[in-house]
Amino acid sequence: MAANEDQAHIAVIGCGYVGLTTAASLANLGHSVIGVESSLERLESLQEGKVPFFEPELEELVNLGIEENHLAFTFDLKSAVSQAQFVFVCVPTPSQDDGSADLSVVRSVSEEMSDSLISGSIVILKSTVPIGTSVQVEEWIDRSDVEVASNPEFLQAGRAVAAFKNPDRIIIGANTLATREKVAELYSKVSAPVVCTDSRSAELIKYASNAYLASRITFVNNIAELCEKTGGEASTVLRGLGLDKRIGEAFLQPGPGWGGSCFPKDTRALISVAAEAGSDATLLNAVLESNETRFAQIAAVISESFIGHEEIQVAMLGLTFKAGTDDLRESPSLKVASLLLNSGVKIVGYDPHVTTTPLNGLEIVQSVEEAVKDSDALVVMTEWERFVDLDSEELIKLMAGKIIVDTRNILNSKTYVDAGFSVWQAGQGWKKPLK
Ligand code: UGA
Repeated sequence: MAANEDQAHIAVIGCGYVGLTTAASLANLGHSVIGVESSLERLESLQEGKVPFFEPELEELVNLGIEENHLAFTFDLKSAVSQAQFVFVCVPTPSQDDGSADLSVVRSVSEEMSDSLISGSIVILKSTVPIGTSVQVEEWIDRSDVEVASNPEFLQAGRAVAAFKNPDRIIIGANTLATREKVAELYSKVSAPVVCTDSRSAELIKYASNAYLASRITFVNNIAELCEKTGGEASTVLRGLGLDKRIGEAFLQPGPGWGGSCFPKDTRALISVAAEAGSDATLLNAVLESNETRFAQIAAVISESFIGHEEIQVAMLGLTFKAGTDDLRESPSLKVASLLLNSGVKIVGYDPHVTTTPLNGLEIVQSVEEAVKDSDALVVMTEWERFVDLDSEELIKLMAGKIIVDTRNILNSKTYVDAGFSVWQAGQGWKKPLK
């Protein structure tokens, strides 16, 4: 048993950005945590205190946990759970071809750990899973002395540690009051509203949150496109919209469409859940389609600025799906790059956190200067800080053309227009130098 009354013994299965953030953060709250990682390469790196992907603040937290003897890592799932009062499941639930979530890893870990779980322990699903999965996991575990709860994560890549420390809410779904209270107790040092409910509702809160945010950004991009075409100022329109307290100002940034490992997968999965339930998914289907249309709009903005030209070279700045992460999954940059490559445009990409090419035909270089050299146009796809102040004189010297497409609306367009560039920005459209 724990020396400290408040200290729980926890196993966290899966050490991706959700699992590792959860493990290191729970250790930081004073719990004794063992992270289970199935990839030996990742495991070795974690045991040396090295985080095998980029997530701000996480490496420091992992090292602190190891130093304070609150955090360790293992390959051995059975032995880890055999000493744990709480087992967090943080394994991937990727999309299948039909859009539904693939639960095969959740199932295999549930079955594998079943015999080793201690009596009275609680298995907590943090992975994003379809409604009813907790009940399904109870069947896979098949132990009447073990409870299963849902405690969905709301960690944003790039600020996952901060989101864990300071969440908007903690959602706990379980069948019994006692289990809800025990899980809530793990977070007693975190100040946030706790919503306790049944496991199905908890699972749906996670899907509904991501699908709502994805829908909201699609709506924002629809308004931005209107402004791009009709001459409105989207930033002002969206500020005017967000000041309505019922709407709120967060998550109203127009961009090249949303991506990442969560919004696309979870929106598709919710559509699949709705289809299975015979429930209406018209809105969500339209949101998915409209997001794809946004990628095509951005590719068209770039290619239409070169009608009649041949052998076009574009510098693409930013390849990850947003700043603050090295994650390329379903990145808008790659969607747009793929459309441009298919129409014969040469693309030279640069991203501070990407070193190997993620796409056939996409050349990767190691600096902004190399990327823009001899390019006909520069496209900002990810809102990395270092792209905000590109030196216009340098660009003129290095680039062959004078076109800038800023899909994140982060540049001060006046600087570049004054230097002779034609600048297109999300939600603003084109601004061109006076002839
Ligand atoms: C998202 C949710 O925000 C988290 O709450 C959730 O826990 C996580 O998914 C998950 O399910 O694990 P994440 O995918 O890391 O987090 O990224 P976001 O910051 O939500 O951005 C998603 C996409 O929307 C990105 O492509 C981003 O560039 C885009 N976005 C976001 C905009 O285009 N405009 C905005 O105003 C905000």
